[in-house]
Amino acid sequence: MSQLDTRKLEILRKMGIDVWSFRDPLHNRKSEPESAVSAKTETSQSEFGQSVSGVSEAEQLKTPELDGVSVSITDLTLDTIADRIRSCHNCGLSRTRNHVVPGHGSAVADWVFVGEAPGREEDIQGLPFVGSSGKMLDSMIAALGVDRAAVFITNGVKCRPPENRAPFPEEISQCSRYLKQQLEVIKPKVIVTLGCSSAHLLLDSEEPLRNLRQIIHSYGERQIPLIATYHPAHLLRDPGDKLDVWEDLLLARSLAES
Ligand code: URA
Repeated sequence: MSQLDTRKLEILRKMGIDVWSFRDPLHNRKSEPESAVSAKTETSQSEFGQSVSGVSEAEQLKTPELDGVSVSITDLTLDTIADRIRSCHNCGLSRTRNHVVPGHGSAVADWVFVGEAPGREEDIQGLPFVGSSGKMLDSMIAALGVDRAAVFITNGVKCRPPENRAPFPEEISQCSRYLKQQLEVIKPKVIVTLGCSSAHLLLDSEEPLRNLRQIIHSYGERQIPLIATYHPAHLLRDPGDKLDVWEDLLLARSLAES
């Protein structure tokens, strides 16, 4: 395996993307066309079936052997990621949700906004930021002169935590793969994190949000510029911080337009 393949695999694993390898050397399919490779991925999944914990046996049996590797990244789209989220039972939130909220917007967006987790209204509709925080976010986006349909809006956690509690660290880390996959598909010009949860997740930081503001951070291997700002719900409680958010959004706009 070349150094490039090894590097690619490392990135895919970090993003939580399944990498399948055949344990039987007779089945080395390196030269198969992509469509055959993805068909094999599906077959493998159904062959192994579901385990009690909801994690497929194939996932549990994933081997470090890398020969004959077949990778599904080329098949990823926002729709296939949304399908994965709909069938996800990696944490207890899947038992209490009404709808998953994968995210909404353009697959070729220059801007991606990332909140914390869906609330009551979002859980009912299956759409992000449609409640009172959503109205505030709408006005922030409109003030920028950006069309809401041209951006992508999502959350670090895709299912509603009961009673709107903050998501647990385990729920955030189980779900983070989906956000990372979405960002890999969209490749936006700028990511705007709303509130400390998504900033901490994508920056792997525990700094207070006020220390993360007004800095051009860089996210992931692609070094996508990232701006951290306050959550719209914070502005509903504390409108005095609107000016700070506006300054953050202007910084983000300078990156989206560059
Ligand atoms: N708050 C969030 O963080 N996300 C939503 O989708 C709604 C409210």
